[in-house]
Amino acid sequence: MLAVRDLTKSFTGPGGEVRALAGVSFELAAGDFLAVQGHSGSGKTTLLLACGALQRPDSGSVTIAGQDPYRLGAEERAAFRARHIGFVFQQFHLIPYLTVLENVLAPLLALNASAAPARAMELLERFQIQDRAAHRPQQLSTGERQRTALARALLHRPKLILADEPTGNLDEQNADTVLDSLRELAKEGAAVLMVTHDNRLAAKAARVLALEHGRPKAEAAHAH
Ligand SMILES: Nc1ncnc2c1ncn2[C@@H]1O[C@H](COP(=O)(O)OP(=O)(O)OP(=O)(O)O)[C@@H](O)[C@H]1O
Ligand SMILES: [Mg+2]
Repeated sequence: MLAVRDLTKSFTGPGGEVRALAGVSFELAAGDFLAVQGHSGSGKTTLLLACGALQRPDSGSVTIAGQDPYRLGAEERAAFRARHIGFVFQQFHLIPYLTVLENVLAPLLALNASAAPARAMELLERFQIQDRAAHRPQQLSTGERQRTALARALLHRPKLILADEPTGNLDEQNADTVLDSLRELAKEGAAVLMVTHDNRLAAKAARVLALEHGRPKAEAAHAH
């Protein structure tokens, strides 16, 4: 589903060049669940954005469902993302003037699916935010925003799910609900890549990719 080869990405900041990715390769098949770990600044978000067709790497390649999204034009790439990828941003990126339900339905702007409102409510229920459906993001707790962002990413049943710290603001019980949902989606055939600082949650993933200064440190396989 996802193949990443020799990705590099640098940024120019006030102090000079920062090498965010320094050669990362891995593959993620349908049904895989990979946790990405690493210290703050190790390149996790940069890797996710590159895998999500949201930020072009300096070198290396990203192949999603057999296609290199960076060869597509901007509009085609956006349509490609809408079709294949569910992305949970670390900063959520909810639309402030839409309600929770409308935010979850926002991917419909790029697709058309008639069963979506029922599916959206089902996701809100799964993540225990159904009674916040009419609230706007600023009326939510941080953890409720996080769950809204996750529901939005899952609306169209993407084959590739990229989640940046989707449990970062959640208590143990809600974190487990989110993790169980992601594992279930992997069992149903999605490829899931989740960034997490939480060793307890990473241990529940099938594989772990540890990043250090933009490089893979080790990839450990858990016995599951
Ligand atoms: N747009 C940017 N401009 C300049 N530097 C950047 C930019 N984006 C990221 N960086 C730098 O690249 C490095 C990797 O950043 P990244 O956001 O990928 O880290 P991270 O592992 O996701 O960290 P965290 O756990 O804090 O979210 C950091 O040193 C960061 O300062
Ligand atoms: Mg990050």
